[in-house]
Amino acid sequence: MGRAYVYVILGGGVAAGYAALEFSRRGVGHGELCIISEESSVSLFTPITIYYLVERLGSLACGCMRRVIPTYLASTTLRKSRNTTTENPVVPYERPALSKGFLLPEAPTRLPSFHTCVGANEERLTPKWYNEHGIELVLGTRVKSVDVRRKTLLTSLGETISYKYLIIATGARALKLEEFGVSGPDAENVCYLRNVADATRLVEVMQSCPGGNAVIIGGGYIGMECAASMVINKMNVTMVFPEAHCMARLFTRKIANYYEDYYKSKGVKFIKGTVLSSFEKDSDEKVTSVVLRDGTKLLTDMVVVGIGIRPNTSLIEGQLTLEKGGIKVNGLMQSSNSSVYAVGDVATFPVKLFGETRRLEHVDSARKSAKHAVASLMAPNKTWDFDYLPFFYSRVFTLSWQFYGDNVGEVVHYGDFLGSTFGAYWVKNGYLVGSFLEGGTKEEYEAIAKATRLKPRIEDLAELERQGLGFAVSI
Ligand code: FDA
Ligand code: NAD
Repeated sequence: MGRAYVYVILGGGVAAGYAALEFSRRGVGHGELCIISEESSVSLFTPITIYYLVERLGSLACGCMRRVIPTYLASTTLRKSRNTTTENPVVPYERPALSKGFLLPEAPTRLPSFHTCVGANEERLTPKWYNEHGIELVLGTRVKSVDVRRKTLLTSLGETISYKYLIIATGARALKLEEFGVSGPDAENVCYLRNVADATRLVEVMQSCPGGNAVIIGGGYIGMECAASMVINKMNVTMVFPEAHCMARLFTRKIANYYEDYYKSKGVKFIKGTVLSSFEKDSDEKVTSVVLRDGTKLLTDMVVVGIGIRPNTSLIEGQLTLEKGGIKVNGLMQSSNSSVYAVGDVATFPVKLFGETRRLEHVDSARKSAKHAVASLMAPNKTWDFDYLPFFYSRVFTLSWQFYGDNVGEVVHYGDFLGSTFGAYWVKNGYLVGSFLEGGTKEEYEAIAKATRLKPRIEDLAELERQGLGFAVSI
């Protein structure tokens, strides 16, 4: 015997939080909805953070503590200190905060301040909120298997939970260096960044080597955002990635040059066109240097790895249709089994504007696809196919950009690449399909979003370049 619900959300990340809010707004009954999530945070009160606090509160700390704690630390490896942390299950939160405010040295963002749905200026859903709305939370619990035919889930505690409708919101996991044949990256000073426990550990490791050297593997979103946050923490950062320029999945070389020059002005070093081949470690199993494929050795105090993700689809493989690495859904976010929906990073859905399916790894699509799935479930006769305009953004140092649409076709740059406001349009088969803007105002970002959504015909690329941002603003 197990519990039974009308709706079960499998996964407790961004999409789950926005789905819960939408369910409550549409009047889900008490006890009808359950969220199951394995995610936990860890307590920050480890020896390392206690030491750090003591250092910071130096004038209050007595001399003997100042002597004893470093001695204790010296005899304690990071691995041992991690064993002293406690795991606390967490309700859904805004994952983007982890590479930004969470890593700041001054007044860092901490839970509960960034639970969903504050990222979209909506209510902050605390455990109390779920309780008051009759939404059951099964937290710190991994789902081990799903039986789509029987409509049941089996948890790591051996409990069977049945559903009438299932929303899969399992997101993705960070790719590991082992998967690329690099051995030994399980050292305590090698960090990944996917969840709040990872972010907590990254902060601890960074605080254990103040002003030290950090090597960042990967030149994508995690690499760029962590590099900026770590520079703000006064770390000496070197980025290593295989492409010719940073953010190769989105940036043009010209945009990347601007970003790389800016990062260099902040002290970041770039080693491009190569990957690491191995690590060297000390007797405590801490990585002391990163060895690159060409034999270059980078002495380091810590390593951050951001080499992409894999959607968490393993539970339903062989049961639901997959496409482009995700669970294939229709415009209602419904999978090949009509009782199962998929949302967020794990879903491959039709993007009407492009006339093809996409799996997106960004927070806006997680939020909106989740809300759409709930609308489809609770108001099926009033819900039409999801019509989504892809939207990505990032904020680092004092820089900030937004991108809408698709980065395919011919590129037209505009604006002042020596100043702070510039951008690019992508034109495919004579139509505007994508727009990027750095340093825009709210109205300008709205303008590029609107222009991209309208997909106007572009007869003359030179004229588009001449008009620049004015083209979008005048539409
Ligand atoms: P998400 O990963 O949020 O949640 C999945 C949940 O399912 C997790 O809680 C996981 O533990 C749980 N789960 C998985 N398998 C399970 C199982 N078997 N049993 C139980 N639970 C299970 N995007 C953007 O547009 N702008 C930004 O600035 C950023 N910044 C950013 C920073 C960092 C550090 C990361 C890691 C990611 C971003 N993103 C981003 C990407 C964005 O956060 C991402 O697209 C959304 O979190 C996706 O939401 P989902 O709910 O799909 O997955
Ligand atoms: P990514 O795909 O953005 O970048 C991966 C980087 O790692 C690329 O530079 C790639 O070439 C490099 N790489 C791949 N294999 C490598 C290898 N073997 N050795 C060295 N480098 C290698 O992925 P990410 O930066 O890890 O980000 C993870 C996820 O988090 C993504 O889904 C991303 O969308 C999301 N995220 C988004 C934002 C944002 O939208 N602002 C911010 C942070 C994270």
